Order: sequence, then structure tokens, then C-alpha cells
Amino acid sequence: MDVPLYHLIYSSLLADDAHPTCVADIIRTSRANNALHGITGLLVFDGGRFCQYIEGPEEAVRRLSDTICVDSRHEQFMVLHEGAIEGGRLFSEWAMGYALSLDEGILPGLALLRGAPAVSTLQGLIPSLDMEP
Ligand SMILES: Cc1cc2nc3c(=O)[nH]c(=O)nc-3n(C[C@H](O)[C@H](O)[C@H](O)COP(=O)(O)O)c2cc1C
Repeated sequence: MDVPLYHLIYSSLLADDAHPTCVADIIRTSRANNALHGITGLLVFDGGRFCQYIEGPEEAVRRLSDTICVDSRHEQFMVLHEGAIEGGRLFSEWAMGYALSLDEGILPGLALLRGAPAVSTLQGLIPSLDMEP
């Protein structure tokens, strides 16, 4: 039987003492680790703020979220929504897709949302993002 899927979306800010170039390391590590744990998703960064969507088996998503939230490269970690996935994965092809958001208003606006609209809004942004799957 298939494992039930779970998803989580959060917002955070690049830490004051972290440099934006750390994102390349984060993506490299994420792609290697996530592929091992059945996690897929998307990380969006605008130079100052992160928004990340992760999906996979519930235990793996929760464990990863516990790890990410204490990472000193970012702060003000705030979960916008988490829960069981109804339907399939949104990012089944991406161990961690990466997108640079060039509009500085988008992620702050997304960070104000709570619940499922945070996920659907992120999904709606995809065509306008500078994607690097
Ligand atoms: C914004 C942000 C997003 C991250 N996303 C992931 C992720 O999707 N997967 C992952 O394994 N680590 C992610 N990390 C890194 C983890 O916090 C942690 O450093 C890493 O999982 C440790 O991996 P290692 O034990 O292989 O060194 C992220 C960190 C930050 C700051």
C-alpha cells in the first residue's frame, strides 16, 4: 500500500549573518538528502526571504522540518500550512526545485497567508518564477 503523503510550507528570513550564496549549498544538500527520503518540493528565495514547500511521507516531512527550522542560516521560521495531501504530489519530479523570485513583494505577501491558500498561491506563482528544477 502507498504511504500517505504529507506536505508543509513555511516562510523564513535569511539570517543577518548569512550570505545569499549559502543558498547554493542548501540546494545541493537538499537534493541529495531529499532524494534518499522520498521528499520532493520547491524552495523560493528572493534575496532575503525563503518560502519552501516540502512533500513526502509524513514522518520524513516532519523530521526534515525539525531539522530545517533550527538551521542558523535563516530565522523567523513560520509554518504557513501542513497536513495530509489530498491528491498527488505537486513536485514529483523535483527532489528540490529552486526558484529565484525577482519581485520583492511576492514572498512577504505569501508569508501572510495561512492554511491551504498558502499552497495554492505558491502553486499559482510557478509560471511567473525564474525556475531551476
Ligand atoms: C531555507 C533552508 C532550506 C533547507 N531545505 C532543506 C531540504 O529541503 N532538505 C535538506 O536535507 N536540508 C535542507 N536544509 C538544510 C538543513 O537545515 C540541514 O543543514 C541539512 O539537512 C543537513 O544535512 P547533512 O546532515 O547531510 O549535512 C535547508 C536549510 C535552509 C536554511
